[in-house]
Amino acid sequence: MEQTAKIVVDGKTFELPIITGSDGEKAIDISRLRQETGIVTLDPGFANTASCRSGITFVDGEKGILRYRGIPVEQLAEHSRFVETAYLLINGDLPTKKELERFSVLLNDHSLVHEDMRTFFEHFPRWAHPMGILSSMVNALRAFYPEIPERTEEEEINITVTRLLSKVRTMAAISYKIFKGHKVIYPIQDLPYAANFLNMMFDSPVRRYEIDPDFVKALNVFWILHADHEQNCSTAAVRLVGSARVNLYAAISAGICALWGPLHGGANQAVVEMLGQIHKNGGDMAPFIARAKDKDDPFRLMGFGHRIYKTYDPRARIMKKACHKVLGKLTQHDPLLDIAKGLEELALKDQYFVDRNLYPNVDFYSGVLLRAIGIPLNMFTVMFAIGRLPGWISQWKESIDDSDWKLHRPRQIYIGANERDYVPVEKRG
Ligand code: CMC
Repeated sequence: MEQTAKIVVDGKTFELPIITGSDGEKAIDISRLRQETGIVTLDPGFANTASCRSGITFVDGEKGILRYRGIPVEQLAEHSRFVETAYLLINGDLPTKKELERFSVLLNDHSLVHEDMRTFFEHFPRWAHPMGILSSMVNALRAFYPEIPERTEEEEINITVTRLLSKVRTMAAISYKIFKGHKVIYPIQDLPYAANFLNMMFDSPVRRYEIDPDFVKALNVFWILHADHEQNCSTAAVRLVGSARVNLYAAISAGICALWGPLHGGANQAVVEMLGQIHKNGGDMAPFIARAKDKDDPFRLMGFGHRIYKTYDPRARIMKKACHKVLGKLTQHDPLLDIAKGLEELALKDQYFVDRNLYPNVDFYSGVLLRAIGIPLNMFTVMFAIGRLPGWISQWKESIDDSDWKLHRPRQIYIGANERDYVPVEKRG
């Protein structure tokens, strides 16, 4: 028998259906609540609200579980590559050997960006943050690659998805080279996705870049761990903007803007800045812990805490391991890794963090890993954006195929002034 929840409004009882997800998660379906009772729900930050039914990513924040299309992220990080995981997220299943080859060839075929876009890149101020550049350039892609009426909707979506996955990576590398004032390096047809990106970033006409397979593996792991995380802030932004039926480039551009924030994707940059500050202050972590606990100080321990995970973020565990592997290869020791480990140890023993279930999240070790690969600090969030693209795309695709699809338009509880008359300016006190 269908389970229901009862709600009593003004003495009248209403029954609401309870729906169950494939892992037993339960939700009260309030989609007819206002129509039947005349009232709405209030849920700041949507902490108690499921905005959709989704078959893409499963997260259990209490147990620390993360699965893409049913497959544990630990297995994907160990055995898969980013391109294969992107295929899995977007298409629902792991590709066959032939499908994977075809997908990889398509990504390489679309890796160049329109030469005229170079003018755009060159006219951003040198100090512009790469996330601002990336979101603007992704939006500009629609102007350079307009919809072609002869194509079916499916063909249009497939080509847009391929372009995005391939060109965003190229655009990220171009913006870095232009920022440095260096020659732009083009993608190479036979190089796989991650190796191609590293080559575009670090090769130069005067010094060949030697692609290190361990760096390639670490980058694949980094991107796989970021590939999707169900209805997080940027994905919710992509779905919300997409619900107005804008083109996919515009929806992804909105996701990039949301990801830029320090409470979301910007945290990986903020973590390394914080670790750097601790290092500069002689390595004493205690004042930072004290500031994070101080109610009158807005400072937070960056890379700690998560809206969903109330235990160790499974991605952080894998990231920490990957970090050790890459750093172990380097001849130069990175003191920031020691500070990160020390800070983690200190925080996990501290009652403030214990009481609030605050554990390291994915961003805590990811910055140290990116630093080891040679990625500059202001590109960290861009790296997250490249990784999150398959998630944004698959969630957008799912939303447009959803029979429950609606324009996203939340309600509010108005708490402003009641009706009052307009007062001409000469009569205002
Ligand atoms: N340092 C110190 N205190 C914290 C922290 C932190 N990093 N995170 C949460 N708290 C405290 C917070 O002050 C509050 O305390 P109290 O109950 O006494 O008022 C309590 O823990 C609950 O915090 P909240 O802000 O209500 O929790 P939330 O679920 O809204 O916040 C969060 C989640 C990620 C925004 C927050 O933990 C935070 O700001 N962390 C630092 C930024 C960060 O690392 N962000 C990356 C998130 S993972 C990557 C991603 O998915 O984007």
